[in-house]
Amino acid sequence: MYRTHTCGQLRIDHCNETVTLSGWIQRSRDLGGMTFMDLRDRYGITQLVFNMETNADLCKKARKLGREYVIQINGVVAERSNKNKNIPTGDIEILVDEIIVLNASEVPPFTIEDETDGGEELRMKYRYLDLRRNVMKNNLILRHRLARETRKYLDQNDFIEVETPVLIKSTPEGARDFVVPSRMNSGQFYALPQSPQTFKQLLMIGGYDRYFQLVKCFRDEDFRADRQPEFTQIDCEMAFVEKQDVMNMFEGLVKHLFNGVLGFDMEGEFPQITYTEAMEKYGNDKPDMRFGMLIHELTRMAQGKGFKVFDSVEYIGGIRVEGYANYTRKQLDELTAFVQKPQIGAKGLVYVKCNEDGSFKSSVDKFFGPDDLHQWAEALNAQKGDLLLILAGEKRQTLHALSELRLEMGNRLGLRDKDKFAPLWVKDFPLLEYDAETNRYYAMHHPFTSPVQEDLDYFESDPAKMRAEAYDMVINGVEIGGGSIRIHNRETQQKMLKALGFSDDEASEQFGFLMEAFKFGAPPHGGIAFGFDRIAAMFAGEESIREVIAFPKNNAGRDIMIDSPANISEVQLKELNLKLSQ
Ligand code: AMO
Repeated sequence: MYRTHTCGQLRIDHCNETVTLSGWIQRSRDLGGMTFMDLRDRYGITQLVFNMETNADLCKKARKLGREYVIQINGVVAERSNKNKNIPTGDIEILVDEIIVLNASEVPPFTIEDETDGGEELRMKYRYLDLRRNVMKNNLILRHRLARETRKYLDQNDFIEVETPVLIKSTPEGARDFVVPSRMNSGQFYALPQSPQTFKQLLMIGGYDRYFQLVKCFRDEDFRADRQPEFTQIDCEMAFVEKQDVMNMFEGLVKHLFNGVLGFDMEGEFPQITYTEAMEKYGNDKPDMRFGMLIHELTRMAQGKGFKVFDSVEYIGGIRVEGYANYTRKQLDELTAFVQKPQIGAKGLVYVKCNEDGSFKSSVDKFFGPDDLHQWAEALNAQKGDLLLILAGEKRQTLHALSELRLEMGNRLGLRDKDKFAPLWVKDFPLLEYDAETNRYYAMHHPFTSPVQEDLDYFESDPAKMRAEAYDMVINGVEIGGGSIRIHNRETQQKMLKALGFSDDEASEQFGFLMEAFKFGAPPHGGIAFGFDRIAAMFAGEESIREVIAFPKNNAGRDIMIDSPANISEVQLKELNLKLSQ
């Protein structure tokens, strides 16, 4: 038997018992006649003691063992004279009688402690060592509990988990597909699902009514801290529902997860705001509602005073930073440099300080007198002592820059507290987005999202005006889920595909199976998918979803532990009838 107890199990009540433990050597300390060793497994750490006086041979043997050796020991539990209140086993130690080395270890390339000296690349290359650290272990256990609570809630609400295929054909969800060549169908390719979207709709047509799946999705897109090329969704679909039914059900799921996993009660209904309101007040469609500092438009009142920068632009807007009129020149210069970064894209930053004595100091005093500045201050609900930050330019771009500036100020002022959660629904998205470069419309969610019924007539006359029956759930500025009511009728689906630029032939080649299914009694249906990794990262207080994925890819989409993607052999290429052009 390798062990009678785990390394997290023994307490003062076990004193004088003879036990066997197995685990990894976390560290050891030689203090004159004694050697102390911390033995670690998934459950905790237990202190081992070797005594030079009573058993010199054993003590010498122990001193030769390095970090991360896997050992088994037999010994007797004893009360510690020097108790460690920080760990549950801190009252006891094991007086070791026998030690068996189960496996040696080389010196690990980084220290396996809570605060590690390993950089990200090293941690990824030796991920199995990184996974021994408490932080990673706790994150993966939390992820497991999230999955368990998800299944519990959905099962209680009559959802059944159904697996859908991984080798499919392309579903347009906005990213590029990963493709897999087919050996048996030479020259043809499967695509890995960007989501099981069409399959879950087909399950509704199949009569399953309530479906869910914890499912891997694959998207070949640029990576960020909250994106991975393969990630996990809680994918869900329901039949005979309207938008509000779906929102109620999944607000319930999120509340259940907060309660069941974090012990956190989310009271009241989640606020709902429209896409337009989110864009105008927060500058983006996933607002962080943990703090105010809303955007206000100043275009009309700030134009026509001879300040060319303002007069020539489409939009002027600002935010009010409460109580920061004392921001220094240096701090304002830093903010200017921040908004001028290419990814933020503002040309410059105008500030107005609302001084305590009622006067104003601004970077545009030459063009705007106290009356003008007073008007701006009023529009932004500013008080004495506040700082106004103003940007101008093309509307969409300036709102984006204001949004980034707002978040930056939120960070600087400590308003984005990790332990606070501010959920909301964003709804009434436009159905379509026009892209000037390719001169065509794209579906803002995906091509299966239903337009709002009363907007149906705009398909021919003004597609850009159409709103979608879609909703996103956002928490703390992160889009954790999104879904919609679906089109369930052939004619509307045809119109949608036409609006997206599909010819009849292309539509039937790509989506013929779905159009065909719509002929056989498709029920009204809708659903949602949550980013499971994003929820896990938020619950764990991690910035990056990599920290809650056992074996993630790096920023270049590589798994540097197994060294993938990799070349394949000439034989494999030949079998697949593939030739590389270089
Ligand atoms: P959507 O594309 O919005 O919707 O995806 C749903 C949720 O999945 C998460 N997510 C990601 N997480 C990590 N890495 C990625 N690359 C990534 N991409 C998306 C986000 C997002 O909100 N089929 C539809 C859902 C539906 O309509 O029911 C879909 O996939 O949290």
